[in-house]
Amino acid sequence: MQRRTFVKSAAGAALASPAFAAGAKVLGANDTIRVAVLGVNGRGQSHFNGLQPLDNVQVTHFVDPDLEIARQRAGEFEKKFGHKPEVVQDLRRVLDNKDIDVVTIATPNHWHTLAAIWACQAGKDVYVEKPATHTFNEGLSLVAAAKKYNRIVQHGVQLRSSEAVQEAVQKMREGIIGDVYMGRINIFKWRPKLEDFPAKATPPSTLDYDLWVGPGKYRPYSKRHVHYNWHWTWDYGNGEIGNQGIHETDMLQWGLDVGLPTKITSMGGKYLWDDYRETPELLSTLMEFDNGKKFGEVAVRFWCSNHETESANGNLFYGSEGYLEISGYTDYAFYFGRKNEPGPKGSAPTKHFENFVDAVRSRKTSDQNGPVETAHSAAALAHLGNITFRRGKVLEFDSAAGRFTNDNEANQMLGKEYRKGFEVPPPNKV
Ligand SMILES: NC(=O)c1ccc[n+]([C@@H]2O[C@H](COP(=O)([O-])OP(=O)(O)OC[C@H]3O[C@@H](n4cnc5c(N)ncnc54)[C@H](O)[C@@H]3O)[C@@H](O)[C@H]2O)c1
Repeated sequence: MQRRTFVKSAAGAALASPAFAAGAKVLGANDTIRVAVLGVNGRGQSHFNGLQPLDNVQVTHFVDPDLEIARQRAGEFEKKFGHKPEVVQDLRRVLDNKDIDVVTIATPNHWHTLAAIWACQAGKDVYVEKPATHTFNEGLSLVAAAKKYNRIVQHGVQLRSSEAVQEAVQKMREGIIGDVYMGRINIFKWRPKLEDFPAKATPPSTLDYDLWVGPGKYRPYSKRHVHYNWHWTWDYGNGEIGNQGIHETDMLQWGLDVGLPTKITSMGGKYLWDDYRETPELLSTLMEFDNGKKFGEVAVRFWCSNHETESANGNLFYGSEGYLEISGYTDYAFYFGRKNEPGPKGSAPTKHFENFVDAVRSRKTSDQNGPVETAHSAAALAHLGNITFRRGKVLEFDSAAGRFTNDNEANQMLGKEYRKGFEVPPPNKV
């Protein structure tokens, strides 16, 4: 009875929203959620493999400007799940399809925000990969769109949905390691020198390259910056701090219970390989939160390295009585005192797609483990780190104003120019 009353009132709220006018359906507890996956080369596979097995969820469309990839993945999906998703090249064709309830976005970073905003405007709920944004300003627009159209927008930082990681944060909040004053992020990846490709080439006939570029800056086609390699060009990616690093920037903010830093600086560069990567191989970012009350460190490394947590990527939190280690997406361990005596530890898988689907049904953003505000904030931390690296300065940031207070050129880098037809609208025009 309670559930029925709840579904009814959630439906009432949704009916009053602008998204309903845009065509959003109100889903009952047993209605099938129909999903289109945008970008199916790499991470998109985890989206369809993670969502399809859930109760009353049906992955119906694969969207990718590269038809060869989309067709191949659709064939693999059919073998595994027994039905073939429809292959679509242009995302706008699924956004105007009223039968689709949810879009998941595993495109390159430069597409995330525009695709998510268009989806909100079309009345779809959205699971958007990290980083949810390519620039700081995009985050403001994304938050505004999710709110205006009353959509569920979940950020793809899956460690938020590990019960073990949730437990670790809870214990830290309860004071298990005393006053927590510092967090450290380790992003230790194995990133060999890039294979070289010509700077200009003819795109394959199965790829709509103009659509792939979309809201990014137009560069002639090259394998240097399509599939996966885009991470290392500023026009489409955000380097490693804006790649793997988003899991950890998000964790840092969650664990320290902070937003954006008030002071931040970075140093780093390319010390290993002479290749066409524009983004740094090594990056050290230092930041102060709440005008000096808490401190954060980021270490990005690309090659041989010791590990500071069980897995190469992780977070450390330091308190007056001990420290906490978060390893990867699923594990934690506490250590106490001068001798680092082991304390409680735990491990639990992430259930981030389940959490998203539950929120799509309940229509309560408070049910989400990775709501849109955290998407903006975690991505913004990486963007600020990259901006200070590129400016080579110690910068002060006013998060209420969304601006650096001591460098106007850095403020220019909070946003970017868009190609005609692919503009991310400012927050007041979403
Ligand atoms: N949460 C995680 O653990 C995790 C892991 C890996 C990657 N990711 C994220 O997933 C995203 C994709 O990464 P990847 O390694 O799969 O990249 P990729 O380049 O291998 O694949 C991206 C795909 O998106 C397609 N695409 C480009 N524009 C599109 C559009 N307008 N509509 C639909 N598809 C479009 C590309 O053609 C390509 O097939 C990245 O943002 C990355 O940060 C997250």
